[in-house]
Amino acid sequence: MDHRPPSPRLSRKPAARQTAESWTFLREAARDLRTTGAVAPSSRALARTLTDPVTTRGPRPLSVLEAGAGTGAVTRTLLSRLPRGSHLDIVEANPRFTERLRRLVDHHPAPVIRHVRAEVHQAYVEELDTGRRYDVIVSGLPLTNFAPEQVDRIMALYLDLLHPGGTLTYFAYLGTRRARTLLAPRAEARRHAAVDQVVGAYQHRYATARWTVLANLPPAHVWELRCPSVDAAVPPHPLPLLPGVEQ
Ligand SMILES: C[S@@+](CC[C@H](N)C(=O)[O-])C[C@H]1O[C@@H](n2cnc3c(N)ncnc32)[C@H](O)[C@@H]1O
Repeated sequence: MDHRPPSPRLSRKPAARQTAESWTFLREAARDLRTTGAVAPSSRALARTLTDPVTTRGPRPLSVLEAGAGTGAVTRTLLSRLPRGSHLDIVEANPRFTERLRRLVDHHPAPVIRHVRAEVHQAYVEELDTGRRYDVIVSGLPLTNFAPEQVDRIMALYLDLLHPGGTLTYFAYLGTRRARTLLAPRAEARRHAAVDQVVGAYQHRYATARWTVLANLPPAHVWELRCPSVDAAVPPHPLPLLPGVEQ
């Protein structure tokens, strides 16, 4: 990996960098809101909750996948928290974001100081083929914007890519289903409800925790799903099915 000195754009003070990232994000949202899935990058509070499993599973080296990394709000937190010798695959569909992510990885101290290996893949996660399995997957994909069949494929893929006992975290904004029911065409509201059903079935089977993060725009739920261990028929602490709870 090439470790050049920080470029002027990346050595900006955090506040200036955040503003620049927010503008990039907003521009991409205006271009394609369905795929971008948000109008602002995740907050530090949301990034920390999403990446907590890497601290609880350390300090052994981990194999981690981040899907839908955007401008790198969660990637940056992951890089700072990954145990020494870990491997991070970062997959992002938008080439304008991957360009940024490559610069972020190239100039972050974690690869040098803690021998973390990080690779950015410009691809749809559905098409990613690294040949690796993961201890932790952190997903930033806007699942509620996708077709139910696509969501089913992605959730099944995540569970397939996890080592037994591995952890998936992802978030869902609060209130989006209600907003769609009230404001969107009926077909859109039906699609969203169908996605909730698909995701709800995975949550019922594999969820081990859910947190609410209010310090994000908009506030979000973070879900943690666990791939069953080889010898376990059911996950260790399945959450009860929560009827009516928005995904
Ligand atoms: C809601 S943003 C989250 C960005 C970042 N993780 C954050 O929390 O600030 C979703 C990201 O997923 C990307 N994305 C959408 N569909 C994808 C797919 N099928 N495969 C990979 N990335 C995808 C979008 O381009 C966007 O950057």
